[in-house]
Amino acid sequence: MNGKANGRYKIITMLNSFHGRTFGALSATAQPKYHQGVEPMLAGFSYAPFGDLDAAIKAVDGETCAILIEPIQGEGGVNLPPRGYLEGLRELCDKHGMMLIFDEVQTGMGRTGTWYAFQNFGVEPDAITLAKALAGGIACGGLLAKRKYAEKLVPGTHAATFGGNPIACAAALATVETIEKDELLPRAALIADAFRACFEALRPRCPLIQEIRIKGTMIGVELSIDGTPIVDECLKRQLLINCTHGNVLRLLPALNLPDDALQAGCDILESVLLSIAH
Ligand SMILES: Cc1ncc(COP(=O)(O)O)c(C=O)c1O
Repeated sequence: MNGKANGRYKIITMLNSFHGRTFGALSATAQPKYHQGVEPMLAGFSYAPFGDLDAAIKAVDGETCAILIEPIQGEGGVNLPPRGYLEGLRELCDKHGMMLIFDEVQTGMGRTGTWYAFQNFGVEPDAITLAKALAGGIACGGLLAKRKYAEKLVPGTHAATFGGNPIACAAALATVETIEKDELLPRAALIADAFRACFEALRPRCPLIQEIRIKGTMIGVELSIDGTPIVDECLKRQLLINCTHGNVLRLLPALNLPDDALQAGCDILESVLLSIAH
């Protein structure tokens, strides 16, 4: 990776992104609300609107070394990339010798129906970050990079007390095996179809629903109102969902969600949304 030593250190990230709470990741996160109270942030990050290729092109200067992006924004409201956008970023990075890094912490490990979300879009990044589902709930994070970048990190250059933790690594291997053995990648597509059918059927009866954005088990329903009362009411009925960006219900169901629980969840959502709409 290029560093400040050869003059290139800037990284472009996207508005409404979320990359985490450590200081570098927080500086990459282009949402002012997360910066409040901990400024000044690290130098070198510039922010472009997600989905706007021209803005990304304009943000590049002679010191830019990488673009870091969630292929589908999670916390920012389940935002799918417009057609051609990720391909355009790939071309831009190739043109300027920059790395294209996908944050697959939320989208990875089968959530979108493929091992990694980038496989849905046919765009190969130079590196991806992984965490969340990587070890099925045991704390574990990872960075996968193409060989020419990976070989820059030799043992000791990126050490951490708990790095390579044997229990976490065993859990990650078990997670990979389970996803394969239980055929959870195609299961994600079936869950997507079921939720799409549920929300599409509900839409004509529920004017609160503005947009439905689904890729595998990454499900966003944009509402015309604040989503908090819906989240609260679902919780009372024992359905855990959350709301991002104020008005986007975000569902991230487990890939092994059984059919009866899926149906029960859809029924609760339908009943809650209709009761609040009318
Ligand atoms: C896309 C993305 N990147 C990074 C993170 C932060 O991951 P961690 O909590 O493992 O630092 C999150 C957490 O929500 C995320 O959604």
